[in-house]
Amino acid sequence: MELKPEIIDRLKKLDEKYETMGQNLVSYLDGLLYADYLTYWDYIHLDTLLSLQTPKTSIPDEHIFIMYHQITELHFKLVLHELKQLSLNPELKSADLLKTLSRINRYFNALIDSFDIMVDGMDPAQFHKFRMSLLPASGFQSGQYRMIEIYCTEFIHLILQEQRSKFSGYPTDSMIEQMYPHIYWQTGATELASGKKTLTLKQFELKYSTELIRLAKQCRVGNLWVRYQSLPEADRQDSKLINALKILDLNVNVNWPLSHYKSAVRYLQGDPEDIAATGGTNWQKYLPPRFQKRIFYPELWSKEEIENWGKNWVRSVVFKEANSE
Ligand code: HEM
Repeated sequence: MELKPEIIDRLKKLDEKYETMGQNLVSYLDGLLYADYLTYWDYIHLDTLLSLQTPKTSIPDEHIFIMYHQITELHFKLVLHELKQLSLNPELKSADLLKTLSRINRYFNALIDSFDIMVDGMDPAQFHKFRMSLLPASGFQSGQYRMIEIYCTEFIHLILQEQRSKFSGYPTDSMIEQMYPHIYWQTGATELASGKKTLTLKQFELKYSTELIRLAKQCRVGNLWVRYQSLPEADRQDSKLINALKILDLNVNVNWPLSHYKSAVRYLQGDPEDIAATGGTNWQKYLPPRFQKRIFYPELWSKEEIENWGKNWVRSVVFKEANSE
């Protein structure tokens, strides 16, 4: 049988490839001869993926709770995949940044649009039964969520408002270490009366603090805002780019937190008393974006917009404006 020219061509190329590495093509062809075909389930590790839902109770809706958290963490991983590349790209162009921001905003939109799975998708009575078996675990301990924040903005914007004046100028590595204890989420999980950290926070810090501090140091030069600032002035003025940054700011700091807050209200708001959260925060005061006022890019917002951060008109009016481009 005559071999087709394209097969001979590929064989020659393969021979060159393996030759360069001192390898024998014939041995690799033997391997190919006996290798199994790739299957869908092996490729995406489907059996492993579907074995990762292990509830702590036999209450059916706990499956929904676990899986939606896992879906969210996978989206966070997609977001981080984009942010990492952006952070390290030595020749970042405005078009790359816009493409990345659009992807990240799409991932967040998917999460924001699907949060009803949590808000309406579980039987509250079932939730109340299984939640106590999860103590002291909380979504508060999502390390990926914190990494996204660190990649997106200058570290100072994650520090509690009242502590920020202590730190000025270009942040050094040691300044990052001094700032870390004043990061906003630390107070969220500190008992007001005693000043003690909750167990949820202690465990989170044990697992993630070293990594988060290392990332914050790396992001001094690699966070999204610094990368945007590194573009030529004309590119920075591109309204599409500015809007994409504003949408990201709203998605991470207002829209996702509000969708999430809705689920906390639905399952934890009680009459006459609210139900304590598994992470032990004063969640009614801690979670609403208008109290947290986390803003990644204050330079892009007006004084009034910042004052009204997280309130209705910012979401409806500004978000529509930002989307209309
Ligand atoms: C019924 C559903 C949910 C309820 C009732 C709920 C409740 C809460 C509460 C009360 C907090 C404050 C910390 C605490 O005291 O535990 C919190 C924090 C958090 N939760 Fe959830 N949550 C739900 C679903 C989710 C899901 C699906 C995710 C996805 C990963 C998630 C991620 C987070 C994150 C990242 C925080 C920290 C927020 C911040 O620091 O601003 N939660 N959650």
